[in-house]
Amino acid sequence: MNNTMKAVIIDKPTKGSDVVLSDVPIPQVKPGWVLVKVKAFGMNHSEQLLREFEIASDYISKPIIPGIECVGEIADPSDSSFLTGDKIVALMGGMGRSFNGSYAEYALLPTHHVFAVKSSLPWHEMAAVPETYFTAWGSLFQCLKLIPDDTLLIRGATCALGYAAIQLAKALGCTVIATTHKESKLDLIKSAGADECILDDGSLKGKTDTVTKVLELIGIKTLKDTMQSVNEGVIVCNTGVLGKVYEWNHFDPIKDIPNGVYLTGFYSNYPYREMIQDIFTFMDEKALKPLIGEIYDFKNIKEACISLDEGKINGKIVVNVS
Ligand SMILES: NC(=O)c1ccc[n+]([C@@H]2O[C@H](COP(=O)([O-])OP(=O)(O)OC[C@H]3O[C@@H](n4cnc5c(N)ncnc54)[C@H](OP(=O)(O)O)[C@@H]3O)[C@@H](O)[C@H]2O)c1
Repeated sequence: MNNTMKAVIIDKPTKGSDVVLSDVPIPQVKPGWVLVKVKAFGMNHSEQLLREFEIASDYISKPIIPGIECVGEIADPSDSSFLTGDKIVALMGGMGRSFNGSYAEYALLPTHHVFAVKSSLPWHEMAAVPETYFTAWGSLFQCLKLIPDDTLLIRGATCALGYAAIQLAKALGCTVIATTHKESKLDLIKSAGADECILDDGSLKGKTDTVTKVLELIGIKTLKDTMQSVNEGVIVCNTGVLGKVYEWNHFDPIKDIPNGVYLTGFYSNYPYREMIQDIFTFMDEKALKPLIGEIYDFKNIKEACISLDEGKINGKIVVNVS
């Protein structure tokens, strides 16, 4: 095996247009870590945030190879019970932030964040699943306790996570109401499966009478309005930060959470194998294909990062590595 690999490596705020591929050493395995041959990876809003400003934070290891998820094969199982060639997915747990991530031909990853999966999806479709569907699944089922009788409101549905949530909730049998802040995208979320679409002008008051559960993807910017717009008994799960407000200053739970409304949140940092396999099994059983917006070859990673920054792609951006 050649000793070097192609990877994206950054140490300061970096625009998509400044992203380049570098030659770096293939990482050496060590106990508790496995070497993964990256086949493909999905791209995430959080990787844009990492490049734009989070990279300057002390808690980010620098220089860093970004990328919080990938699918691939075990290239070296080290001291784990994996076998060379096992099909895996890996995500989160510090990937692409505390230790090098997936924008590379190989990734050295902690064994406990690498999961063997069975799936009939080809690599590029598998790559659109881990972080996006894990977050959608965790938000809908672990946090919102979604059931077929629910009417789910998805606020900020025109992101990969929003499309995944529409798809999962519809496959379960729910009624789905989805919002967009762009009139031009109303038809798009309808074609993604939503039963009803709302143009979000900043207030949902009077528009959510039938809603029983809410997936909030805009985040703190609209959360108060969301909670004040729904009926008593509704559960609201705050998962996204598309509104770019990251901390709720002067949050007063007594006054800000209306009586009888339930607020929860999902953090995708703690994936585990059973839930990951449940997602792939559910998708196979329901014949669901992840909604992919665009596929790039790894050599065109700069163009993929520019697309992520521009936010013009509808659905998940996937990068094929080999
Ligand atoms: N809690 C967790 O652990 C977790 C895990 C994964 C993702 N997330 C968060 O979930 C959100 C979605 O992630 P993603 O990776 O699926 O995003 P993404 O696919 O990169 O979505 C970006 C798209 O969101 C759309 N969007 C909708 N409403 C928006 C608004 N008010 N302001 C700006 N953009 C808006 C934009 O399209 P238009 O403006 O054209 O509609 C943009 O193209 C992000 O905030 C991400 O950080 C959280």
